[in-house]
Amino acid sequence: MSLDDQSPHDGVLDDTLPVLDLDHPGASDPAYRARRLQIARAAQQFRRDPDGAVPEVEYVEEEHAVWREVAAVLRELHQERACEAYRLGRDRLALPTDHIPQLGEISRRLAATEGGFRLWPVEGLVLPRIFLTHLEQGVMHATQYIRHPSRPFFTPEPDIIHVLLGHAPMFADADFAAFSRLVGKGARLADDDHLEHMSRLYWFTVEFGLVEEAGGIKAFGAGLLGGVEDLERAYSDEAEVKPFVLEEVIETGYDYEHPQPTYFVIPSFAELRRQMERFMGTWMD
Ligand SMILES: [Fe+2]
Repeated sequence: MSLDDQSPHDGVLDDTLPVLDLDHPGASDPAYRARRLQIARAAQQFRRDPDGAVPEVEYVEEEHAVWREVAAVLRELHQERACEAYRLGRDRLALPTDHIPQLGEISRRLAATEGGFRLWPVEGLVLPRIFLTHLEQGVMHATQYIRHPSRPFFTPEPDIIHVLLGHAPMFADADFAAFSRLVGKGARLADDDHLEHMSRLYWFTVEFGLVEEAGGIKAFGAGLLGGVEDLERAYSDEAEVKPFVLEEVIETGYDYEHPQPTYFVIPSFAELRRQMERFMGTWMD
């Protein structure tokens, strides 16, 4: 089934609005919780109206201030740590550092790049099979709220900083986008075992991947590029860094509730794409 036959979010989430865990930085802040619900309702509206535009969020000054603070620190860290494809993509998308841009605007710019991806608003975490399957069609689910101001350099869930400053620039790269679409195709065709393999391939690349470049080892995973604490950890003594071997990656488990201990380094995005094409050929025949 193609996505053209569906409402954009069929089966993505039920209609229950997400509730913050008790240990969430914003759990005891009623104004933050109300704001999250307001933004979540707008995303729900998009799901009910497939032809509607991505909802515009009128961000308030306190939210822009969180973006500014994080964007300034990330900009500094990215100079040394971000891979070239990320920096090129960030410039293509003209991501601002002084205010939160609209998701719909960045999605339009991204769709015009070689990667051709779009960003679809969603109110919270999406089931892995559905989230991954949409990648095949060049669709990334994206949240529009921003993290709680008490912990600007950490978020327990994907927020708009993670989406736009972590993910979006990479999807402008043709080889990276092609790899992501293959992960999506694999997820669509997978039984439960293969789905786990696809989730791990996604996790250790799109979220936490490292790449070898002339100047050393650079980050391309959104969990690293969009998260100050995570990026620092990947380059600390706590990190176990290994060469990317696809057969090993699919056998490596992960736990998204705890800091990431293991990272894999790909030789290039073209090689990552080639390895993925080869792997898909082995179990699809
Ligand atoms: Fe992510």
